[in-house]
Amino acid sequence: MTLRVAINGYGRIGRCVLRAAYEAGRRNGLRVVAVNDIADPATMAHLTRYDSTHGRFPGEVELVDGNLHIEGDVIELLNEPDVAALRWPEVDLVMECSGAFHDVVTARQHLGSFEGGGVGRGAKRVLFSQPAQSDVDFTIVYGVNHENIPLDAKVLSNASCTTNCIVPVLKVLDDAYGVEAGAITTIHSAMNDQPVIDSFHHSDLRKTRSAMQSIIPVDTALAKGITRILPGLAGKLEARAIRVPTVNVSAMDISLRFARAADAAAVNDAIIRESRNLPVNVLGYTREPLASCDINHDPRSAVVDLEQTREIAGLVKVFVWFDNEWAYANRMLDVAQYLHTHRP
Ligand SMILES: NC(=O)c1ccc[n+]([C@@H]2O[C@H](COP(=O)([O-])OP(=O)(O)OC[C@H]3O[C@@H](n4cnc5c(N)ncnc54)[C@H](OP(=O)(O)O)[C@@H]3O)[C@@H](O)[C@H]2O)c1
Repeated sequence: MTLRVAINGYGRIGRCVLRAAYEAGRRNGLRVVAVNDIADPATMAHLTRYDSTHGRFPGEVELVDGNLHIEGDVIELLNEPDVAALRWPEVDLVMECSGAFHDVVTARQHLGSFEGGGVGRGAKRVLFSQPAQSDVDFTIVYGVNHENIPLDAKVLSNASCTTNCIVPVLKVLDDAYGVEAGAITTIHSAMNDQPVIDSFHHSDLRKTRSAMQSIIPVDTALAKGITRILPGLAGKLEARAIRVPTVNVSAMDISLRFARAADAAAVNDAIIRESRNLPVNVLGYTREPLASCDINHDPRSAVVDLEQTREIAGLVKVFVWFDNEWAYANRMLDVAQYLHTHRP
C-alpha cells in the first residue's frame, strides 16, 4: 500500500523532501500527491527543476494543466495560504513545511474530515518540519525516540535540524560517560528568514542585517528542544547560535563535562561504536579534512569530525557537521516511512 503524502510550504525543506523522495530509491511505499504554497505553479515547477544548492532535479519535471508531472506521477499543485480553506485530496500525512505557524490548533485543520473519524478529504496525520508547540502529540528525533511514537498520534513534530544533529551525539555520550554540563554553539548557514541585503524583520533586529555580509548571532531554543527528547539533560545545557554567510550546511561546536572519566579518544570510540547501532544515516563520522561544502547533500543527521575532538582541563570538545536541508528532509521521509509501516 502506498503512503500518500502532501507538502504544505514548498520552500527549502518542502522541495528537498519531494526531491529526496525521488532520489536513492526512497520512493518505496511513499508518494507525494499534492503540494501547496503561496507561489504560482510555474515558479514551483521551475524551483523543482533547478536548485542552486543541490543541483538539477535528477529526472524530468513537467507542468501539465497546473500540476507537476514527475516520472509518470501527477502531483496536484495548490495555491492556498489559509490552512482552513485548503482542499487536500485524501492523504495519509501532511508535511507542514511552511514555517508559517507552529500551533496544534492550526495543524489540526489539515486533518479535514478525518478529524473525528470521518473519511474523505484531508490528512490522517500532520508532521511539522520544526519543533512546534509543546502540546503536539509527539516530537521525534529519528534514531533516538521514533519507536516510541504513539500509534494514535495525529500531530507530530520532527524537531529542528539542529536537534536532529545533536541529540544522537548527546545520547551516545550521555549513555557512555554521563553528561554533567554542556555548552553548544550552532554555526548555521543563512536561511530564508534573513534578507540578502539589509531589510525589515518583524521580530529580530539582528535579522534585519544582510545574511551575506555578516556573522549574525540569533536566538535559539535548542537547549529546550534537546531536553524535550532527553529530559535527563534539563538544566545542564547552554546553547547559542550564529548564522554565517554560506547557503547550506551547518556545524555544532560542543563542549562537554562528563561525570565519568572520558578523554578525546574515549569520546571518539563511543561515537564510532554506537554509530553502528543506530539506523542508517543518523550518526556518522569522518577523519578527512573537510570543509562545509563537502557535506552538501549528505543525508546523515550528524557527521562527527573525529580529528576536531579535543580535551582541555576536564572538558571535551566535539565538532559535528550536518546538511541542515538535505539530512533533515531525509529524516522527514524516514519518519513518514516508519509511520507507514507501523499503522494503528
Ligand atoms: N532550511 C532549513 O535548513 C530548515 C531545516 C529544518 C527545519 N526547517 C524549518 O522548516 C520550516 C520551513 O523552512 P524553509 O527553510 O523551508 O523555509 P522557506 O524556504 O521560507 O519555505 C517556506 C515556504 O512556505 C511558503 N509559505 C509561507 N506561508 C505559507 C502558507 N500560509 N501556506 C503555504 N505556504 C506558505 C513560503 O512562501 P513565501 O516564500 O512566499 O513566504 C515558502 O515557499 C521552518 O519552520 C524552518 O524552521 C528549516
